[in-house]
Amino acid sequence: MKEAKRLELLSGTVVSASETNDGTEVTYSSKGDKVKVQHIVNCTGPFGDIARTGNELLRNLYKKGWLGADEFGLGVRTGKSGEIITQSGEILHKIYAIGPLRKAAEWESTAMREIVAQANSLAVEIISEHPDMDELLNSLKSLSPENRNTLHIRNIISRIKPEAFNYSGLLPETTDKEYKRVTLLKEPIECTIIYWPPGSRSAIHNHDGYEGLVVVLDGNIQESEYVFADNILREKKSDFYGKGSILREKLNTIHRISNNNSLRPAVSLHIYTPAPKNFGGTEIYDEVKLKKAVLSDKAKIISWNIQEDGFKKIEENAFAFEPLLEFMI
Ligand SMILES: [Fe+2]
Repeated sequence: MKEAKRLELLSGTVVSASETNDGTEVTYSSKGDKVKVQHIVNCTGPFGDIARTGNELLRNLYKKGWLGADEFGLGVRTGKSGEIITQSGEILHKIYAIGPLRKAAEWESTAMREIVAQANSLAVEIISEHPDMDELLNSLKSLSPENRNTLHIRNIISRIKPEAFNYSGLLPETTDKEYKRVTLLKEPIECTIIYWPPGSRSAIHNHDGYEGLVVVLDGNIQESEYVFADNILREKKSDFYGKGSILREKLNTIHRISNNNSLRPAVSLHIYTPAPKNFGGTEIYDEVKLKKAVLSDKAKIISWNIQEDGFKKIEENAFAFEPLLEFMI
């Protein structure tokens, strides 16, 4: 094509282009070099600055705040799988971008090879959709009796993505220092959201005949495990769980859950099987005052700070306590 003078390679930056009677005249260098052409093909991908885009759909989405522009004008703000990030910083898990729009986050995002890879991983992301609250509750309800165990429940809840799991309308408005429970499903499996104000914790308690799985939806929680034998309560171990992690509340365990952060609340989702009817019969321990109590079925939370009729029995000087000594030399 070069020999036949049908192709000519020129280098330079396009300065301007103006229509003439017989085509378009393009000025392509600062010295004023010009070339006349019939057609122009832009191979640089769409205009990146979303604030000034000519694309009506993108412009409207941007005007409404649904698309966030990146600071260098390369494209839109996107998450790991191309999820759109709005101007206010919220991740929209239902709207994704692939290709040149993702240049701001990935730069190499215009070739077919990259777009195919993005489309592939996006398809996987969409197929393995993360359950929302309704889907979660329906999945739990539809578990057959033989599958109402932590193995099957773990399969369901391990797909929960805290960032994509909307529970904000369910949280109680409280200035109380005690933790708050919001039960969403009671039968055949219990599903409860727990809001942990900064510094709040449950009493040390046993699980009599039921076990549970907990997904940390926000903040961090700590689980401390204990054993009770020969009238001595021994602290066995403590583990921290961050956002998105799952902890297992073992059958017949004695433990405590705490939000040790004095500034940030935590939120966790608890699933119990078989669903305990109430807290009646739950034993709680006060490791400082060495008191032991049995809760009545009137107790709404597992705490020492509850109404009087929440206790069935309280024993003073009931046991000895041995804290975890792993930090001692
Ligand atoms: Fe528990």
